[in-house]
Amino acid sequence: MSSFLVFEGIDGAGKSSQIEALVSRLESCGRRVRRLVEPTDGPHGSELRRRAREGPAMTAQDELDLFLADRRENVSQNVNPALAAGEDVVQDRSYFSTAAYQAARPELGLTPDQIVDLHADWAPSPDLVLLLDLPVDVGLARVARRGAGDAFEEEGRQRRVRANFLALAERTPAFRRIDADRPAEEVAADVWAAVEAHLQTSC
Ligand code: TYD
Repeated sequence: MSSFLVFEGIDGAGKSSQIEALVSRLESCGRRVRRLVEPTDGPHGSELRRRAREGPAMTAQDELDLFLADRRENVSQNVNPALAAGEDVVQDRSYFSTAAYQAARPELGLTPDQIVDLHADWAPSPDLVLLLDLPVDVGLARVARRGAGDAFEEEGRQRRVRANFLALAERTPAFRRIDADRPAEEVAADVWAAVEAHLQTSC
């Protein structure tokens, strides 16, 4: 049986290396794995990145509309076909990122739950959400070392995003909160334990 496994977390949580490790491990167990990311590099995802980098600044509504359009495409072109073909999908971010990040823009006036509900009819629910959780200042320091973003301006928003993720994790059974403020190998061990328990496999 294929599974839809999603990683979430604030910027700097270390998703990329954990995804790499999980994909290799699943493949070494003989599973067929499709690795995906939202936003995608399709037309809407590219537009989002370009506008974030070069402007003109997006309104909160523009941003939400683009994330939704990008996701509709990813679901119909990538996620659903892969699951139907019996592959596991390991995806970097999902609609829970929209719920956490766009609800952190007060001018949009939507709660995380209202944003989740916008996906109810069409977006498959992840079987497991691995929330890589860490303090905002630790995440921002990692992002600053990569040389991206304006860490100081971002701090307030990242705090709201983290709080939104933690609240979603409390009330969504598929979430597993994993302490990501530790060496990568320890985080990977907890990720694997959660996935193994979910898949009911030991390999
Ligand atoms: P990206 O460069 O892919 O960063 P990361 O490696 O941290 O995922 O940019 C994605 C950014 O977009 C990240 O800051 C989270 C944000 N985002 C949203 O605001 N809403 C969404 O629905 C998604 C999928 C991402």
